[in-house]
Amino acid sequence: MSRLVIVSNRVADLRKRTQTGGLAVGLADAMRCRGGLWFGWNGKIEASPPEQPHIEQFDNVQMVSLPLTREDYEQYYLGYANAVLWPLFHYRLDLTQHDRAAYAGYRRVNAMFARHLAPQLREDDIVWIHDYHLLTLAEELRRVGCRQRIGFFLHIPFPPHEILSATSEHFELINALLAHDLIGFQTKADLENFNNYLGHHFSCAGDTLYGQADAFPIGIDVEDFSRLSQSAGDDILIDRIRRGILGRSQIVGVDRLDYSKGLPERMRAFDRLLELYPEHQRTVSYLQIAPPTREEVAAYADIRVELERFAGAINGRHADFNWTPIKYIHRNVSRDKLAGIFQTSNVGLVTPLRDGMNLVAKEYVAAQDPKNPGVLVLSRFAGAAEQLEEALQVNPYDIDSVAKALHAALIMPLEERQDRHTALLARIKKQDAKWWVTTFVERLGAVQVDGKDTDCLVGAA
Ligand code: G6P
Repeated sequence: MSRLVIVSNRVADLRKRTQTGGLAVGLADAMRCRGGLWFGWNGKIEASPPEQPHIEQFDNVQMVSLPLTREDYEQYYLGYANAVLWPLFHYRLDLTQHDRAAYAGYRRVNAMFARHLAPQLREDDIVWIHDYHLLTLAEELRRVGCRQRIGFFLHIPFPPHEILSATSEHFELINALLAHDLIGFQTKADLENFNNYLGHHFSCAGDTLYGQADAFPIGIDVEDFSRLSQSAGDDILIDRIRRGILGRSQIVGVDRLDYSKGLPERMRAFDRLLELYPEHQRTVSYLQIAPPTREEVAAYADIRVELERFAGAINGRHADFNWTPIKYIHRNVSRDKLAGIFQTSNVGLVTPLRDGMNLVAKEYVAAQDPKNPGVLVLSRFAGAAEQLEEALQVNPYDIDSVAKALHAALIMPLEERQDRHTALLARIKKQDAKWWVTTFVERLGAVQVDGKDTDCLVGAA
C-alpha cells in the first residue's frame, strides 16, 4: 500500500483532543485510521525562515512541520488566506480585503512548502493537499519535479463563478488547482460551482474538461465520539450542567467565533423564540460556546463586539434572578466535555450562513442517547444539509422561521425525535471519517496519471 502524505496549513497536536469539528480534527481522525506523513505549519512564528522542517513520530504518523516568519504569517495566513479567500469562498465579497502583497506572500509560502516537502516524498507516495491555504501548492510541487499522484480537498464552500471572479487572481488560482489528479469538494453544489467556473473561464465545458473532480462529504469517527459522550457522564462539570438545567431545556451551539457561523442571527432567533412563545421563558436556556479565532483579522474583532452586545442585550431584556437565557462562553472547551454537553442538550443549533460541511452537526447527532435523543436544527447553507435530511432544516437569515423550528424541536414528541435520530445516525455512520479517507484515497490511487487529457486546459481569464 502506498504511503499517504497529508498536507494542510495547520497540523493538529495528536496528543491533545481539545478541539471540536474543523479540519484538524477531521484529518486527525483520518490519520489515526491509516497512518502516514502529515506536513504543515506548526503554528509558530519565528524570526527567520526555517532551514529544515521539524520531524516527530506519533505511533503510525510522522509529523513534519515548519514555522512561518512574521511577514509570511501576516501576508499568507492573515492576509490572503483569511482576509481574501475565506470571505470570498463564504460568499462575503463585502469582507474581502484585496492586497497584491498578501497574494505574493501566499504564493511564496506555497512555494516554500513545496521546497521543504519535495525531499520528504517517496516515489509511490500518494499526496493529499487540504484547503484554501494551499490552492497553488501542487503547481509548485510539479515545478520542482514531483510526479506523484496529488489530490486536493476543499473543506470550505466553492462559490459561484461570479463571486470567485471578483478576485483578480481567480484564474491563476484555479489554473494552479488543475495541477492535481483529483479534486474533492464537500457537496454536489460545490462541485457544480466548480464545473460552472471551468465552463465559463476555460475553453470547454467544465465537467468534460476536468473529469477528476467529485463530492466527498467529510465524516467523523462516530463510535469514538459517542463513546466520549457516554464516558462524559461521570464528569463533574457535566453533572453540574445537568443539575443546572434540571426541569429546563437547553439549546447548544458550538462554533469558532467566525462571521460565517451566523451567531448574531442565532441569538436574535432565540430572542424571537422567547417573544413568540412566552411559555419558554424561564424554561429554556441557550448555551453558545464560541472559541476565539483569527483575532488579528479586523472582521473577527468586529463580530466579537457585535455578539457580546447581542448576548448582553437579550439577557438584559429577559433574565430573571434564577434564569440567564443566554450563556456565552468565549474560550476552547475540550472535546470530551463538548460530547457530554451535546448529550445533555435538547437541541443542537447549527445555523451557519454558509459552511463547507460543519462537523459539529454530525458530532451533535453522534453524542445523543438513542433512547432520548435531542433534535438538530440545521442551516440549509451548511454542507451537512445535503446529507442530514432528517434534521429540522432552516434558512438562518429568516429569524422567525428559526424561532419556529426551535419551538418545534423543543416540543417534539419522543417517537419523532427517535425516528429522526435513527435516520441521521445511519447517515453519519455510512459516510464516516474512515469512509471519507478510503473513498478519496482509493479514487486518487486509481487515477490514470499518464493518460490525463490536458488538451483543453487553455483558458481565458
Ligand atoms: C476551518 C478551515 C480550516 C482551519 C480551521 C481553523 O475549519 O477549513 O482549514 O484550519 O477552520 O482555523 P485556523 O485559521 O485556526 O486554522
